[in-house]
Amino acid sequence: KKAIAVMTSGGDSPGMNAAARAVVRTALHEGVKVYGIYDGYAGMIDDHIEELTSRSVSDMIQRGGTFLGTARSMEFKTPEGRKKGFDNLVKRGIEGLVIIGGDGSLTGGSLLSKETGMPIVGLPGTIDNDVWGMDYTIGCDTAANTIVDAINKLRDTASAHRRIMLVEVMGRNSGWLAMMAGIAGGAEYVLVPEVKYDLDEICHELKAMYDAGKRYSIIVVAEGAGSAVGLGKVVEDKTGIDTRVSVLGHIQRGGSPTIEDRIKASMLGEKAALAIISGATNVVFGFNEGKVVGVNLFDAVNNTKTLNPELVRLARVLA
Ligand code: F6P
Repeated sequence: KKAIAVMTSGGDSPGMNAAARAVVRTALHEGVKVYGIYDGYAGMIDDHIEELTSRSVSDMIQRGGTFLGTARSMEFKTPEGRKKGFDNLVKRGIEGLVIIGGDGSLTGGSLLSKETGMPIVGLPGTIDNDVWGMDYTIGCDTAANTIVDAINKLRDTASAHRRIMLVEVMGRNSGWLAMMAGIAGGAEYVLVPEVKYDLDEICHELKAMYDAGKRYSIIVVAEGAGSAVGLGKVVEDKTGIDTRVSVLGHIQRGGSPTIEDRIKASMLGEKAALAIISGATNVVFGFNEGKVVGVNLFDAVNNTKTLNPELVRLARVLA
């Protein structure tokens, strides 16, 4: 191929820049022109597309966010929108597209591929770690580290006051972030959408633990499992123990990527560029059990990832 394009889409995640940088530098190394599509599918439709050089991606590997910008485009959800975007690629001679994004963004890519035949290679860029067929997505490690940092701080003040602390974390419909951060942060309870919980029983246990001298408890709540603000009120009412709630919000999306996210994003970026240049299509590259895997794009978007039951079990045993 003589020209490819790279874009980021959906919620940004730390390491997207490292991945895009690797795509750009690999393509240039192979003598292939590379375009950046700005602001995701919205930019593809609005023709916000520019050729990138090696310098375009210098000073990028350590940055959170995405220098390409990102968006959640409603127009791209229509066949007309996708056709408009496709035409903007074709007129530049772009023969393949690397999409860095989560589940929704890859779904957009799968429709574009189906309708236009544009070759697509996907990379999983989301803090949610909810892409089927892999156990890692670019940015999930940084986000989990950010949450653990917050839990460490909340633990200090919770212990000082003998409080119960609820921490609401992102993850959309997935409990992965909550589970990792809960285990790593030593939480007493991790509430995730994948596993039913009994709030009455939790409150009963909390009361017994505080009566026996416990000074604090951390309850991590995945946003998909309920609102921590609402749950916190119930917990305080039922236990009579002073309770506070922290909703971490978009803090979890930012920050300089961890080494794991930088390295894995770099490896996946190279892999994606080489694959699209050599004619591959409809594949998403990710990591599973430490190894790079290629998952069929349609399988990736049509299946729902489940939470590793081993993590659920471990969180219970150690709490
Ligand atoms: O998909 C990433 C994510 O951060 C989710 O965890 C969260 O539910 C959502 O995006 C928030 O979206 P927005 O940034 O559009 O508010």
